[in-house]
Amino acid sequence: MNITHIPAHIAIIMDGNGRWAKQRGLKRTDGHKAGAEAVRAVVTHCRKKGIKHLTLYTFSKENWSRPKDEIKKLFELLTSFLSKEEKSLKKEGIRLKILGELADLPLTVRQLLKHVMWQTRNCTGMTLNLALNYSGREEILRATRALLEKGIAPEAVTETSFAEELWTTGQPDPDLIIRTSGELRISNYLLFQCAYSEFYFTDTYWPDFTPEELDKAIEDLNSRQRRFGKTSDQITNHNETETIR
Ligand code: IPE
Ligand code: IPE
Ligand code: MG
Repeated sequence: MNITHIPAHIAIIMDGNGRWAKQRGLKRTDGHKAGAEAVRAVVTHCRKKGIKHLTLYTFSKENWSRPKDEIKKLFELLTSFLSKEEKSLKKEGIRLKILGELADLPLTVRQLLKHVMWQTRNCTGMTLNLALNYSGREEILRATRALLEKGIAPEAVTETSFAEELWTTGQPDPDLIIRTSGELRISNYLLFQCAYSEFYFTDTYWPDFTPEELDKAIEDLNSRQRRFGKTSDQITNHNETETIR
């Protein structure tokens, strides 16, 4: 019997496209193209497994510092991916959300994103968040500004009211954050939301990341004990969870 617990929210830092290409004597942009294929397979797999929220780090605010040609290609790949996948997203019940500042994106990209978000707005199978032009620090600053603009009383600034102003509003925090390509850093990703996420690092470059490896990451998560500040005994013996607060 398979008793694997399926996490509600998986977030991925899809890293290593450039090195994957270099290893094969290809252009970096070929790596991004191969990366887009990996995205397709992982999205479908997560939907089939019943994961309700999947967040993919697609383009960070810092990525604007890359060569112009590479940025252009990345946005071309994104638009062709969404145009091709729009129908199947809807069919599979996948709602598209964007985490990041939409206003700074090229007009055509923005229009397509808005169109696909609208087309999939009522889908309830899974939410696919694309972190695009995303910065975790910017997200926190933006939430702070929004609360100040509302004139909220200091004591009304709670974890809940703050989280409501984040781009992930209404969604649970990621249970699992996966980073491919062997880098061991967070790169400004989901800084508020990752407070109690479990991390899974793999040396695999993103274009080689398969649904099987995703299953391995979920299995690994299942072997861990998430304690949220409690003791191990408190987690195993549910009766002993009485605390002084
Ligand atoms: C991840 O792969 C894709 C994006 C950041 C858009 P990279 O392009 O960062 O690949 P490496 O890290 O150079 O290998
Ligand atoms: C993080 O990857 C951003 C995305 C995966 C889109 P980077 O490759 O840009 O991260 P750093 O800058 O090397 O940490
Ligand atoms: Mg990288």
